[in-house]
Amino acid sequence: MRKPIIAGNWKMYKTAAEAKQFVEEVKGLAPDASKVDSVICAPALYLQQLVASTESSALQIGAQTMHEEKEGAFTGEVSPVQLKDLGVNYVIIGHSERRQYFNETDHSVNKKVVAAFEHGLTPIMCVGETLEQRESGETGSVVEAQVEAGLAGLSEQQASELVIAYEPIWAIGTGKTATAEDANEVCGIIRKKVASLFNEETAQNIRIQYGGSVKPANIEELMGMEHIDGALVGGASLETDSFVKLLEAGSHA
Ligand code: 13P
Repeated sequence: MRKPIIAGNWKMYKTAAEAKQFVEEVKGLAPDASKVDSVICAPALYLQQLVASTESSALQIGAQTMHEEKEGAFTGEVSPVQLKDLGVNYVIIGHSERRQYFNETDHSVNKKVVAAFEHGLTPIMCVGETLEQRESGETGSVVEAQVEAGLAGLSEQQASELVIAYEPIWAIGTGKTATAEDANEVCGIIRKKVASLFNEETAQNIRIQYGGSVKPANIEELMGMEHIDGALVGGASLETDSFVKLLEAGSHA
């Protein structure tokens, strides 16, 4: 059985005081860690503070991106060693906003995924098609290619521990959600691809999230789907009430 994982991606929102208050409110309400992995991916600036305030709670802290090198002259970047040093558990890699605005490619995403594992972090690797690709029937081939490139060089064990987030770009921040059936179909294609790259056992272990306008009103239907093991949530992770509802739905899935 795959344990559900609900992760909030705060993107470039919240002040330090707002982040602290959110976590203080939510940490006591997060469901038992045996039922669901509850994660907040916060701006890098707040990670240290949030890791400290969630110690011995079920809430875990993740980063939104990282550089692939462990150190070096890369002004403004954050390394996997630095994240690990702070006590961070997860890191989002290759979010479509990183691919679109910061020139991340399948190749750089793969280097980051490999580096994350090397330094003891669990990557949440994002894949997803544009509206144009969906309308021209390329969704399956686009996500298969992203998965194949992103997982290159991983061991079976690492691939089993990886989290993949399927986020159709046209559904991010738009209020348009893929239907649960469509989201499940693509998550199924991803799982099958993992089986062909590794084996059936690895494919059954890997957790696949859906992301794109997930909210309390649609999470249960999404989580009821065979291949959807969780959600990567933007807007609805910014408010304590809606985020706690998403965690609860994850814990009952
Ligand atoms: P929204 O939930 O705001 O659509 O954002 C999705 C997302 O990009 C999560 O990484």
